[in-house]
Amino acid sequence: MSHIIAPSVLSADFGNLQRDVEMINKSEADWFHVDVMDGMFVPNISFGFPVMKAIKKHAQKPLDVHLMVMDPDRYLQAFKDAGADILTVHYEGCTHLHRTVQAIKALGMKAGVAINPHTSVNLLADTMEYLDVVLVMSVNPGFGGQKFIENTYHKIVGVRDIIRATKSAAIIEVDGGVDMNNYTKLLEAGATALVAGNTVFSSANPMQTIADLKKC
Ligand code: DX5
Ligand code: ZN
Repeated sequence: MSHIIAPSVLSADFGNLQRDVEMINKSEADWFHVDVMDGMFVPNISFGFPVMKAIKKHAQKPLDVHLMVMDPDRYLQAFKDAGADILTVHYEGCTHLHRTVQAIKALGMKAGVAINPHTSVNLLADTMEYLDVVLVMSVNPGFGGQKFIENTYHKIVGVRDIIRATKSAAIIEVDGGVDMNNYTKLLEAGATALVAGNTVFSSANPMQTIADLKKC
């Protein structure tokens, strides 16, 4: 199977949200990456349920929802109701991560865990077998358009080793600073899904950029 491309809606034009959602529908993209920020876990607030529901209304592909939220257990049902297909929580934001992952799956969503740049991949060893997605942050979360952190390649290889050892079927998703210069190297390291915000939406032809990112 070819790798997954998930354009980040955070970089879309919110005054023309329906237009940008329809562009992604028509493109070769696989998922909508939806970044929810609470102003506590990260120093920024993005958007909440009304905007997410508006995206869901027009989206014809799965919503890959990335929660940059402290204690996300409070909102799992609400994200299901707002249309999340994949729900990714942060390792650093959950006290009882195993329980949270089970709760996401019990609600009928795919479960992902994200790790910040400073978090060791080894901390996922005991939950990996239950995960559908591991989201390796390649910037410090909170903002689009940041510079890619080079240590990410090394972390992808580490995640891949744990996936093998635990016989997990998890997808390895990379988020932050993905561009035309690094995406091939990320795939070679073992990434199977790439998020792209600025690279897609700041380009002259976003649909063509998505098609280019789909090429191996
Ligand atoms: C960062 C978000 C990312 C962001 C990616 O906190 O999680 O998904 O939108 O944007 P780019 O691709 O511009 O780094
Ligand atoms: Zn994200």
